Amino acid sequence: MECIVDIKKEGKFTIAILPFNPRTEFDIPKGTIYVKCIVENIEFKSKLMSKGDGCYFIIFNKQLLKNLGISKEGRLNVNLSIEPDIVAAIIELENYEMLENEVLKAISERASIRRFDSKEISDIQMNTVLNAGLCAPSASNKRPFHFIVSKDREKMISIIGTNPYIKMLNSAAACIIVCGDTVVQGTAEWVLADCSAATQNILLAIHAVGLKGVWCGVRQSSDFYKDIVKTFDIPSYIRPVSLIAFGYSDDNKIQPNRFEKDKIHFESW
Ligand SMILES: Cc1cc2nc3c(=O)[nH]c(=O)nc-3n(C[C@H](O)[C@H](O)[C@H](O)COP(=O)(O)O)c2cc1C
Repeated sequence: MECIVDIKKEGKFTIAILPFNPRTEFDIPKGTIYVKCIVENIEFKSKLMSKGDGCYFIIFNKQLLKNLGISKEGRLNVNLSIEPDIVAAIIELENYEMLENEVLKAISERASIRRFDSKEISDIQMNTVLNAGLCAPSASNKRPFHFIVSKDREKMISIIGTNPYIKMLNSAAACIIVCGDTVVQGTAEWVLADCSAATQNILLAIHAVGLKGVWCGVRQSSDFYKDIVKTFDIPSYIRPVSLIAFGYSDDNKIQPNRFEKDKIHFESW
């Protein structure tokens, strides 16, 4: 199939949205759509990403753009020849067939978002997110987590200080500071592990209730840690481990495929 596409930047990625629905056009009712493409006489293989409602796109990574002689800002009105890559589809089916459901979709689609709208979060969304955090596993089921919830802009701004990595608190509708009780969970590594599990549960729930968020690490030696302890009156035996900034956002960051086969070792390294 021949078509004309605009290759352009969307968030961190340079993409081309297809002007047709490849599922119906290529008759691939389910699963990953692998394609073989030609742009500017250069052949490459890819797999299509979905935006929903039959809208699919190709991600052009840095190397591919370099090969095509296209800048990461993209190029408009590019001729694209595209056809399904049956061989790749068969190889994946044989080796890495995966299931799909709502939970797995949230896990693969969740993305760190750092720019938020002013729209408020509802109580039901907040309760749902907090409950997800409290459902996390913990070593010996000690459940040392405590969550400090703040929607107070002044407090949020006061802890930004000079830390460039938490500027998103300027626009976040709320933040949750995930803390661990170091008396209840005496082993320091387990406090970190338990609170990290709670943090990821919270991030997934934020995604699942239609919000966006980002995990900000709180290192014990940092000014950020000290500022959090002071601003939120945290007792010395409670350790803040992460801060999650979240809210509504129109940043629809798309995650690439992160199934890196070389990171998986069956039976031994
Ligand atoms: C322990 C930890 C600390 C992080 N700290 C920050 C941070 O301070 N500021 C920030 O913007 N993102 C922070 N992140 C988010 C990562 O940058 C992000 O997860 C990573 O770039 C991958 O992007 P993704 O979450 O969209 O997959 C942190 C993530 C983790 C797990």
